Amino acid sequence: MKGEKLQLHIPVALDRCIALLTPALARNSEPILIDATLGMGGHTKALLESFPSLRVIAFDRDTSAIAVAKETLGDLSNRVTIIHAVYDQIASTLEELSVTSVDGVLFDLGVSSMQLDEAERGFAYSQEAPLDMRMDQSTGSSALDILNSYSRSDLIQVIRTYGEEKFAPRIVDNIIVARESGRLKSTKDLAEIVKESIPAPARRTGGNPAKRTFQALRIEVNQELEVLERALPQALNALSVGGRIVVMAYQSLEDKIVKKAFAAITQSGTPLGLPIDLPNSAAKFNFVLRGSEGASDVEIAANSRAGSMRLRCVERVAA
Ligand SMILES: C[S@@+](CC[C@H](N)C(=O)[O-])C[C@H]1O[C@@H](n2cnc3c(N)ncnc32)[C@H](O)[C@@H]1O
Repeated sequence: MKGEKLQLHIPVALDRCIALLTPALARNSEPILIDATLGMGGHTKALLESFPSLRVIAFDRDTSAIAVAKETLGDLSNRVTIIHAVYDQIASTLEELSVTSVDGVLFDLGVSSMQLDEAERGFAYSQEAPLDMRMDQSTGSSALDILNSYSRSDLIQVIRTYGEEKFAPRIVDNIIVARESGRLKSTKDLAEIVKESIPAPARRTGGNPAKRTFQALRIEVNQELEVLERALPQALNALSVGGRIVVMAYQSLEDKIVKKAFAAITQSGTPLGLPIDLPNSAAKFNFVLRGSEGASDVEIAANSRAGSMRLRCVERVAA
């Protein structure tokens, strides 16, 4: 089964990531890359094969992803330092490893196809499973813990903000009835509650109505937006001059955080109207891509997950 999963895994925008990172990695005889989201190791493996002296510091908060990545990497893993941690530990990890700067950083955000395929993880609304949704199953509250313990207003806030769900109050009222009667245990129970809460005309558009509520809970369970906000400055700070960062986001809330962080660091601190940058106020980063890029139609046809991907890239140009 594991072999089958390895074969099925297609790293998103692989050639594009390699092309964007190449100028940063090729200028150094012993380049270092941070893969903040190792997953099944697809991107890291291809980068190690492309750059024979590359070393990778790879993070993943999911021990089962790490186990699969080790299999994928085989002998290449002797050039990889794998860290089982949330990627907002980049700064402290580099300090522990005595690494002062890196040449490239890759973030391939969100859950992996493996996590979605493993029904028992509870990420998929279409498969019966306990409501877990933790990327790191060794720590933290599950989705069911959150559904059972949050107040009505906190649940509405989570589902409205992270799911961009306009029927959040109706969904939460039904969640509260179900949790009090012991009818809320599995992914199927939640998917059913969401379906019952959404008026029939609204159910006919926009795919499965449970999608938005599941996304919201997953974000809350894993604190996905907060950790990304903390991690990006650490990753940018770790880059040497000439180093590049590539981020792929699959939902708009994450992409907005990346867009905002990149806009801020590519802006000069010199007041508008002055002909040249004041000393120390020139931007330290330049856009490699203006705006964002999606996957090609050919890739999306082969891998539907790539359809929602937005890729952004900046380069450090000053210390
Ligand atoms: C989309 S997959 C990465 C796939 C990978 N690029 C590949 O080619 O196999 C995202 C991975 O990042 C991990 N992940 C997501 N958020 C994380 C975080 N905040 N800290 C550490 N790992 C995270 C997930 O557990 C998952 O394994």
